[in-house]
Amino acid sequence: MASVKVCALDDLPVNEAVRVIIDEVPIAVVRDAADAVYAIGDTCTHGDVSLSEGFVEDETLECWAHGSKFSLVTGAALTLPAFEPVPVYEVTMIDGDVYIDPSVVIPY
Ligand code: FES
Repeated sequence: MASVKVCALDDLPVNEAVRVIIDEVPIAVVRDAADAVYAIGDTCTHGDVSLSEGFVEDETLECWAHGSKFSLVTGAALTLPAFEPVPVYEVTMIDGDVYIDPSVVIPY
């Protein structure tokens, strides 16, 4: 599958996560204050919880249920109780629009 246009960069709130589903893959999309955009798997690896309902802080997304923080850069679970990483997806910016390819998982 190729990259899919998700939205315009300006449609994304800063330092908040937005849940999108592309080809049945739930993805948490985050725009930081420097306009970098990250896309990581939206399902916490500790439970069936949507990470996009959590909190963005310093390039991490914190699960609201039990507080595990996931790196927006690598997908790593940085704090317990989660310890398995979430996938990280490729984000491409074209003419101010955000594209994500859910079939391309960036290896870390
Ligand atoms: S469900 Fe996310 S940390 Fe427990």
